[in-house]
Amino acid sequence: MPDRKVLGILASGRGSNLQSIMDAILADRLQAKIGVVISDKPEANALRRVIGMDIPAVCIERRKFASKQDFEQALAAELKLHRVDLVVLAGFMRLLGSEFLSRFAGRVMNIHPSLLPSFPGLEAQQQAIDYGVRVSGCTVHFVDQGVDSGPIILQEAVPVLPEDTAGILAERILAVEHVLYPRAIQLFCQGQLKLAGRRVLLEERGSHL
Ligand code: GAR
Repeated sequence: MPDRKVLGILASGRGSNLQSIMDAILADRLQAKIGVVISDKPEANALRRVIGMDIPAVCIERRKFASKQDFEQALAAELKLHRVDLVVLAGFMRLLGSEFLSRFAGRVMNIHPSLLPSFPGLEAQQQAIDYGVRVSGCTVHFVDQGVDSGPIILQEAVPVLPEDTAGILAERILAVEHVLYPRAIQLFCQGQLKLAGRRVLLEERGSHL
């Protein structure tokens, strides 16, 4: 599979989005290859998900570096080592700095559990409930230097029900994340995403949009 784009997945926790990406590759819904999984947390379940999968899994801890810049240089070096084309943030709970982002300009994606620009940052599902919105959802976007503020690639809505807790809403959104993220990554891998200012144009090819 020499022409497949190489993904570098960054994950801090549970890794269910990582799992959905691996499942999509196995099912051939996503024609990509995972070059490396990197976590900033040694205990992250994401690292365990790739055991026995022939995918390199690496832990790079922030506390082992004197500065955020050094930490991000180590991340970038690991991604380069594995010839990563697209950096995929999958529950990676750190903000990346400008030096890192300029090294991977237009090649860092994130998924966020709200319909951006509503409810960026932490606890997006609780923010949605507290605000009283009837609809929330998830957003896949390119990463810029702001908090969840980069150009939007795909979004999908889910209802917010009166009896929802943040946990129940998070589960409803997560089920959609698991479909939307592999689809957005596939669009990138097929060269169907074009940036026009802060708008992402989807070039249709086939019937999967
Ligand atoms: C997902 O809901 C993802 O959208 C969210 O963290 C969760 C990670 O779950 N990301 C953010 O809130 C980023 N701002 P996972 O580890 O099971 O993929």
